[in-house]
Amino acid sequence: MADQPARNLETSDAPGFGVAGSKPGPVVLLGPPGAGKGTQAKKIVAHYGVPQISTGDLLRENVRRATELGRKARAIMDRGDLVRDELMYDIVADRLNQADCRPGFILDGFPRTVAQAEWLDGHLRKQFFEKMPEFCQPIVVQLEVDYNQLLLRLAGRRSCPTCGTPYNVHFQPPRQDELCDRDGSGLVSRADDREEVVRERLVAYDRQTRPLVDHYRAKGMLVPVNADCAVGEVTAQIF
Ligand code: AP5
Repeated sequence: MADQPARNLETSDAPGFGVAGSKPGPVVLLGPPGAGKGTQAKKIVAHYGVPQISTGDLLRENVRRATELGRKARAIMDRGDLVRDELMYDIVADRLNQADCRPGFILDGFPRTVAQAEWLDGHLRKQFFEKMPEFCQPIVVQLEVDYNQLLLRLAGRRSCPTCGTPYNVHFQPPRQDELCDRDGSGLVSRADDREEVVRERLVAYDRQTRPLVDHYRAKGMLVPVNADCAVGEVTAQIF
């Protein structure tokens, strides 16, 4: 990736970066479970109109449809471990191959291991940089949040099973306890937000994903953001 246009991370002055309606190139959101990757990805999507690629959502969709990948991933996700690297590459490659990714994309939850980061480097080189020399290097936004705040956010997360509206009983509560404001459905929690699974997910993050901080810092791509504040303040820092 050395020959790609670098981003100026001091001023964010890469062509079009930070300007509504222009395209941000590849953005990786890096952070532990509950850091706000999904929440912030949606803000960036709304601003730039590029797709959010959440490997967690892709896997949950495969579990729901009981595909071969879904059957392999289900037990691993239920106990809070990471799905094997080799199982991740095809779904990410397929998604990045879709036309809406040409102007850029937000990776939410990928890469999560050094091997995945190295795979992504090679994939971007072959599939993007060699075909589109103007494509920028990725920017890696590292969302930093206090451990106890992560536990609170994950324990409080709910969503409506009917319309999908997200809630958080601590930070974004519904008007009526545990009921969707829009259609009155009873809210549900994610299966892996149980306390014992959350602890395993945080251990997996520390062991397998945190090393990516050094990996991307050494490449000059890392932008640390204090994500221990209100959603809008985090978004403002990212922009
Ligand atoms: P995934 O779905 O990616 O889960 P995760 O990384 O654990 O992240 P979360 O979705 O829990 O949190 P988030 O950072 O997106 O926070 P959110 O915005 O939702 O992965 C699930 C599983 O799939 C993994 O455990 C693994 O098994 C597997 N997997 C996925 N990708 C993989 C890969 N690449 N390799 C191998 N396995 C993979 O926010 C959380 C809550 O906090 C919400 O309620 C939100 O409203 C609230 N909140 C957000 N920001 C704020 C704020 N600033 N203030 C207050 N509340 C906030």
